Amino acid sequence: MVNVIGLGYIGLPTALMMASHGVEVVGTDYDSELVATLNEGRTTFKEEGLDELFAEAIKAGITFTTEYQVCDTYIVSVPTPYDKQTKKIDSAYVVAAMKSVLEVAPDGAIVVIESTVSPNTIDRFVRPVISDAGRSDVNLVHAPERIIPGNMVYELLHNNRTIGADDPSVGEMVKEIYASFCQAEITVTDIRTAEMTKVVENTYRDINIAFANELAKICHVGGMDVYEVIRIANKHPRVNILSPGPGVGGHCISVDPWFLVGDFPETANFIRLARHTNDSMPEWVLERALEIMRAKGIDDASKVGIYGITYKEDVDDVRESPTLQMLESMEHHLVADPCRVYDPWVDNDIAPNQVHDMDEFLDGLEMVIVMVGHSQIKGRPELFGDRILLDTRNVLGNGDNVFKL
Ligand SMILES: NC(=O)c1ccc[n+]([C@@H]2O[C@H](COP(=O)([O-])OP(=O)(O)OC[C@H]3O[C@@H](n4cnc5c(N)ncnc54)[C@H](O)[C@@H]3O)[C@@H](O)[C@H]2O)c1
Repeated sequence: MVNVIGLGYIGLPTALMMASHGVEVVGTDYDSELVATLNEGRTTFKEEGLDELFAEAIKAGITFTTEYQVCDTYIVSVPTPYDKQTKKIDSAYVVAAMKSVLEVAPDGAIVVIESTVSPNTIDRFVRPVISDAGRSDVNLVHAPERIIPGNMVYELLHNNRTIGADDPSVGEMVKEIYASFCQAEITVTDIRTAEMTKVVENTYRDINIAFANELAKICHVGGMDVYEVIRIANKHPRVNILSPGPGVGGHCISVDPWFLVGDFPETANFIRLARHTNDSMPEWVLERALEIMRAKGIDDASKVGIYGITYKEDVDDVRESPTLQMLESMEHHLVADPCRVYDPWVDNDIAPNQVHDMDEFLDGLEMVIVMVGHSQIKGRPELFGDRILLDTRNVLGNGDNVFKL
């Protein structure tokens, strides 16, 4: 039996996927409200295909509880934020979960850390928990997750995976569990390599996004169309520049590169710069908005609305979102009347002046800053009438009223 610890954006779909492919699974989360919701038959976040997968897993017998189980395999998928001061990983959630696992885990149990951790985290923070508990019989494995919100169900089935283990034969056993649903290649390696590989993957993305964002700034200052420049440059057989945007959010790409900066402050210079470049984008959007407002004679911020709060399109995850960073920046600049905000994917109130209806949002607005390219608006500038648009995601075409980054 597999006990999945932490039923958030990663743990829940993983548990459901395993259960619906014949693995006996119990899902554990210490959030009793979350567990109650699942036990009432409802999922806890919006994700393409998740409700169907949930129904299949329930049929297959998955159960949810706040209790840790006595079983042979644990998969730990709890948060791994970074310390904003030191930039180092905050391993407290992983350590706490490990302590709880050890209270019930029988001799020989396998504990898979699925949470993203920086290289050496398992050696420095997890192994001591095991030795402090007087245990030497626990098999540690690190199996980082690569799926992207918005396409999680597909990617769980089709992404290649990495499994790091002290003992290759234990690695092979864990590989078999993941192979129950994963149709792609699963590489078994050692734990530190697996830790580093995951962080490197997200850092690679962050650096490449930062390059595109810097190009957007250069092109704007130099009076060039960055999208046309990238489109043509990408016709080169060895060039593949990503798209610029209003910043990087979410629990992965905007977080994991900091782990390397925190642990290798003398050497991770390029990585630090990329992080700062991406973190500067919400402020850049604000500057662009002010520039456009001045050019168009809009002097009242209450006539400007912000479309999109989530960190990417067609998900409900708002963690580290560029919009929230931009709102914070506005507060910092003492913008008296915060802009009206709307996101069709966000039901709860998390921003000041947030509304929950597109018509109510647009009513009386002269300009909209589009921060997220949700499917609702992609390729449909007409939804905004003749309002001035600052399209930070390049999803609304090239109309006279459409401005880019
Ligand atoms: N969200 C993503 O897109 C994504 C993608 C790949 C990897 N990851 C990594 O996966 C890990 C989990 O991220 P997430 O987005 O699922 O986080 P999350 O915050 O959505 O979920 C974590 C869950 O763990 C529970 N939890 C925390 N401590 C616990 C404990 N001691 N015992 C039981 N339950 C506990 C919380 O209540 C929460 O429900 C992180 O390391 C993250 O970096 C996330």
